[in-house]
Amino acid sequence: MSDPTRRRLPRIISITNQKGGVGKTTTAINLGAALAEDGYNVLLVDLDPQGNASTGLGIEVEDRALTTYDLLVEDAELASVIKTTDIEGLLIAPATTDLSSADIEMVASERRSFLLYDALRQPKIDDYDLDFILIDCPPSLSLLTVNAMVASDSVLIPLQSEFFALEGLSQLMMSVREVRQSANPDLRIEGVVLTMFDGRNNLSQQVEADARATLGELVFKTIVPRNVRVSEAPSYAMPVIIYDPMSKGSHAYRALAQEMVENIEAATG
Ligand SMILES: Nc1ncnc2c1ncn2[C@@H]1O[C@H](COP(=O)(O)OP(=O)(O)OP(=O)(O)O)[C@@H](O)[C@H]1O
Ligand SMILES: [Mg+2]
Repeated sequence: MSDPTRRRLPRIISITNQKGGVGKTTTAINLGAALAEDGYNVLLVDLDPQGNASTGLGIEVEDRALTTYDLLVEDAELASVIKTTDIEGLLIAPATTDLSSADIEMVASERRSFLLYDALRQPKIDDYDLDFILIDCPPSLSLLTVNAMVASDSVLIPLQSEFFALEGLSQLMMSVREVRQSANPDLRIEGVVLTMFDGRNNLSQQVEADARATLGELVFKTIVPRNVRVSEAPSYAMPVIIYDPMSKGSHAYRALAQEMVENIEAATG
């Protein structure tokens, strides 16, 4: 940024789909790692009580003294919640099962939909010089997901290349529209990424054709293949791009990072 006095805001992206097991966390971890590898400073916000992103990046439960729950419900300072990971440039705000009760507690707040928005705009955020904040959402359209969308510039939607993939998407798009109308008129769709794609499977190809016919330009050109190395990596507490840098999954997530950055640059000039 040429003007050092100008506040440089990171791009905030919610990785969301209320459908379970479609590759949200895998995408959050690996897109985050690929962006960090390219020299960007990235914060991954784990907004899922399952804490899969935290575990997948090697943050032990014992090391999650303060979490996104404290950020949302207890007004904790960002600096006390954010942790470094083994990957240079990639930070995480971890989660634990504590977060599962956050919805109920947040409802009582007047700013119930803006709690994450407020947390991510603490002035201290500037100290991290972040380029991207990726929010790993839970598999629901709960208040947590609403908080993510309200706080974000865009949503990135992983779509599993399986039958019924497109079902539920209209509900998700409706939530995006509601958030635009009520709180965040500028919320964009960053894109839809096909995950767990099996090129030998006609069904995967049919899902791709349907997605491109229905959603057009919104669908990323990059497709993430089904790749066993991707599914092994979390048990080694690593992103696949570190665990097996030359795997097909790693190549795909690097390509996705590049395509996303190019899209953003094209849109913002
Ligand atoms: N490209 C891939 N190839 C093979 N396995 C994958 C791939 N992407 C994700 N998986 C596996 O699929 C499962 C679901 O992925 P992931 O946890 O990322 O989904 P999710 O949408 O975050 O799930 P949830 O809704 O429970 O949060 C995991 O076991 C993950 O390792
Ligand atoms: Mg997940």
